[in-house]
Amino acid sequence: MKILVTGAAGMLGRDLVAELKLHHETVGADLADADLTDPDAARELLRRHTPDWVINCAAYTKVDQAESEPEQARAINATAVRHLAQACLDEYARLLHLSTDYVFDGAGAEPYLPVDEPNPQNVYGRTKLEGEQAVRELLETDAAIVRTAWLYGPHGANFVASVLRQIDAGQPLQVVNDQFGAPTYTAHLAAGLRAAVENDLRGAHHATNSGDGSWFDVAAAICELIGRPDHPLAATTSDRLSRPAKRPANSRLDTFSFEAATGFVMPPWRDGLRDYLRRIKRLAGSAA
Ligand SMILES: NC(=O)c1ccc[n+]([C@@H]2O[C@H](COP(=O)([O-])OP(=O)(O)OC[C@H]3O[C@@H](n4cnc5c(N)ncnc54)[C@H](OP(=O)(O)O)[C@@H]3O)[C@@H](O)[C@H]2O)c1
Repeated sequence: MKILVTGAAGMLGRDLVAELKLHHETVGADLADADLTDPDAARELLRRHTPDWVINCAAYTKVDQAESEPEQARAINATAVRHLAQACLDEYARLLHLSTDYVFDGAGAEPYLPVDEPNPQNVYGRTKLEGEQAVRELLETDAAIVRTAWLYGPHGANFVASVLRQIDAGQPLQVVNDQFGAPTYTAHLAAGLRAAVENDLRGAHHATNSGDGSWFDVAAAICELIGRPDHPLAATTSDRLSRPAKRPANSRLDTFSFEAATGFVMPPWRDGLRDYLRRIKRLAGSAA
């Protein structure tokens, strides 16, 4: 199977290309190879590489900045996705498109199902939903849409890296305890996405590490796993942080349909954190 990964230099893209390369002919493309906001770029990429599958990790992911740059966010998260879906239709390639928990408002009490009604609360979420709609409109259920959440890994800016940086700088941590989700390790998601294409995934699904906690719980787990359980850590609330983009309180996603369709069981988030900290040589003592 030949797989083209767009957004290949991003946080998920890099771990995904590494995972796929072990098993399939894999080509990575990023902004330096083709700007997907150019209406012809996707078609040219597909004609050049003739992939069986395209996995789209390219996105505008600066959630707060998107509030003041909605057109830039829309160009990548919606318009470029439409071009890519059209190119997949014309060139007979399957598409797996990545999306986000931020398409939901987070007001529900249960983990969100793929069929639940989206209601994005910020520009990033709205533009990602427009991207999903373009994929559905053009490819219907032939495409796979995989929503994930709270990603972290070695190749991008993320919450775990930021907590480690603050601990190393001796800064006390103040972390919200009113947003709940599952931090998701890029290497685990990459393995799940390989299973997805190998099992011919279609339709909308959710894939995150399993279990849930607040960002405060995640920060506490990091402190513990790196052997710094006494590092100053205080709980705060989203209101007090007043960031430009509103975040959902409930980012929990139900992964049942993804696991049933792919046979891949997403590991618990604490295992993801442990694997990641071991990989970057930060896991403490006997746990390492
Ligand atoms: N990060 C999260 O917590 C999170 C949570 C839920 C869902 N997701 C979704 O998961 C996917 C992967 O996220 P990620 O965090 O790995 O993203 P990322 O690190 O920001 O990577 C996105 C990649 O897309 C590239 N790109 C941007 N504009 C492009 C364009 N016009 N043409 C071609 N490539 C372009 C970026 O290049 P430059 O860096 O050069 O701009 C970057 O390499 C995205 O669909 C995202 O919405 C992420």
